[in-house]
Amino acid sequence: MITGKYPSLRLRRSRKYAWSRRLVQENSLSYSDLILPIFLIEGKNKKESIKSMPNVFRYSVDKLHSVVGKAIKKGIPMVALFPHTETKKKDQYGSEALNPDNLVCRGIKFIKKKFKNKIGIMCDVALDPYTSHGHDGLLKKKNILNDETLEVLTKQAVLQAKMGCDIIAPSDMMDGRIGRIRKALDKDDLKDVQILSYAVKFSSSFYGPFREAVGSKKLLKGDKKTYQMDFRNSDESLREVSLDIKEGADMVIVKPGMPYLDIIKKVKDNFKIPVLAYQVSGEYSLIMNGINKNLIDKKSIKESLISFKRAGASSIVTYFADQIDL
Ligand code: PBG
Repeated sequence: MITGKYPSLRLRRSRKYAWSRRLVQENSLSYSDLILPIFLIEGKNKKESIKSMPNVFRYSVDKLHSVVGKAIKKGIPMVALFPHTETKKKDQYGSEALNPDNLVCRGIKFIKKKFKNKIGIMCDVALDPYTSHGHDGLLKKKNILNDETLEVLTKQAVLQAKMGCDIIAPSDMMDGRIGRIRKALDKDDLKDVQILSYAVKFSSSFYGPFREAVGSKKLLKGDKKTYQMDFRNSDESLREVSLDIKEGADMVIVKPGMPYLDIIKKVKDNFKIPVLAYQVSGEYSLIMNGINKNLIDKKSIKESLISFKRAGASSIVTYFADQIDL
């Protein structure tokens, strides 16, 4: 590393004026870097608040035109759809995930009809918004069944892709799902549909507000430690990512975000592929509540998002996407 010595070298020189700071800045943030998650709810003309996520709402499908329209105007490249499924539609198998008329399918069709390909749509592949026990897979005697779950996830992925979903994002953490889903998509002539694997997803306490938002919080039996990663581990994330790349993932995501910047950097450095970050619901609520209580400045939002870029993320899934001014 080439470096100088004080007093001939003064690093403060380049920080003296705003123009000079801009000249040497190493990272920047634009709307192109952001993915907006949207929660869906049954009904008409509904915009419902979520207690643990101030300023985030659940929208009925007919209300999507305004929120998605605004995202397009800002230049946000993609939205991520998440359903708040009615409890009466949930069962132990997550059958509603395979209903061609479920909330997510209707949401995809609505957006694609209205906005064509002006914005991308990504959808989670996992059963937790649909199961009566709140788990991402099929539950039998306290075990989450891996291979049996793959059968359902594959069908869910193909269904979403047929509806018009551009990026299939398996967030379930079952072993082998990327390969199975890629094969099924290709077989159904859905070769251009991308797979964004939640390759590195930790079993985290930062998902709490999301579970309230999709209505799985009270239902969840136990925890997700037998399939989501142990947050004490780092090298294991490289094994997860290498498997998913071999199985056909186009991109990977690291989740949660800010407590895992080291993992983003490690994955990026090792594989040189697009790595996305997910600033999850708990991180959002922490920052938002801090701002609302005047404990921190609104500028902390941008600072938090730049940290992902610095770590090497190509883009960031964040509930702030439609709230910040860049
Ligand atoms: C479910 C899923 C979760 C999130 C995205 N997809 C929660 C979980 O695994 O329990 C969390 C997102 C967030 O907290 O913002 N497969």
